[in-house]
Amino acid sequence: MNTTPNQPTPPADLPLTKELISRALVYLDSAALGVAARLGVADHLSGQPRTATELAALVEVDAAFLQRVLQLLTSRGIFREDWQQRFHLTPLARLLVSDAPHSLRDAVTMLTADYFWRPAGRMADAVGKGHSVFAEIFDAPFFDHLTEHPTIGAGFHLGMANYSRSTDQIVADTFPFPETGTVVDVGGGHGGLLRAVLAGNPGLTGILYDQDEVLRDHVLDRPETTGRWRTVSGDFFASAPEGADIYLLKHIVHDWSDDKAELILRSCRRAMPDHARVLVVDAVVPPPNVTHYGRTLDLLMMSVFNGRERSEEEFDALFRKAGLKLARVLPTAGFEELSIIEAVAL
Ligand SMILES: C[S@@+](CC[C@H](N)C(=O)[O-])C[C@H]1O[C@@H](n2cnc3c(N)ncnc32)[C@H](O)[C@@H]1O
Repeated sequence: MNTTPNQPTPPADLPLTKELISRALVYLDSAALGVAARLGVADHLSGQPRTATELAALVEVDAAFLQRVLQLLTSRGIFREDWQQRFHLTPLARLLVSDAPHSLRDAVTMLTADYFWRPAGRMADAVGKGHSVFAEIFDAPFFDHLTEHPTIGAGFHLGMANYSRSTDQIVADTFPFPETGTVVDVGGGHGGLLRAVLAGNPGLTGILYDQDEVLRDHVLDRPETTGRWRTVSGDFFASAPEGADIYLLKHIVHDWSDDKAELILRSCRRAMPDHARVLVVDAVVPPPNVTHYGRTLDLLMMSVFNGRERSEEEFDALFRKAGLKLARVLPTAGFEELSIIEAVAL
């Protein structure tokens, strides 16, 4: 006699239902990843596997809750749990170890921090109003908030340098920099990109241009760049260092609306000789219906900064308003979502 109960036939659209529901809950993956990065869990696993109880004692949190967070992450390939309930590093988890060669711990901490997370949670309000609600939540626009809260600002700039580091070398290697001349990194943060450019081009000198409190933590003081750099603090809406040959703007233009981005580009145009070039390093968004990292970044820019990612045509239109024109777009090898958009004087 067959005792197996009748198996109901699942509705044909059940796979789609599951897919959509899991996509709606993806924010919990980000939250869990942010917890692991912030607590430094991976650091405590780099020498040996540990149980949630051992980890919780080290990072001073609740063991049962930490275990559940880590178990979600194991289901995503970040950490692995063995039969003795000890957690191990996986290749993805190794990127969360603070001193790993390509560590992204500070970047993940930044990407999941309150200043990005809360505006994303209020995206419906931003869409309703047609502008970011960051200033409503934090009482100031993004960069003013960082200036007013130096510890938060330092965390952001550290995270940004960490995030950017994965592509600094690729950008430096992709663009055919001239043998001699001066490169200004406008809003260059801690200077990782400028350092890579100077290290690979011994005939170039460089200027790191940013706000005072950011320049203090620069990374330019290295044997390979000795005597070839200086820092200049200022406001890129008002001016840029004069007379350089290349003006780099990595992850800058996308932070701003067209009106504000035009002001930054105008500062570069006013400062540069006619032969100089402006290199914007940002995503170039493709036509609709194509999966592209730039689309995700676009919503981050929209909800936090009032900024946006742009298409090639949008870049050209923006350049022209600032007295520049698009010369060419160079995709970066291995990270095609990030392009070098070269502009020259109109
Ligand atoms: C998103 S970060 C990009 C940093 C760096 N270019 C990179 O790709 O990692 C934006 C940078 O613009 C700088 N910044 C913001 N407002 C500025 C202003 N008014 N004048 C000069 N720099 C500014 C910030 O301090 C920060 O370093």
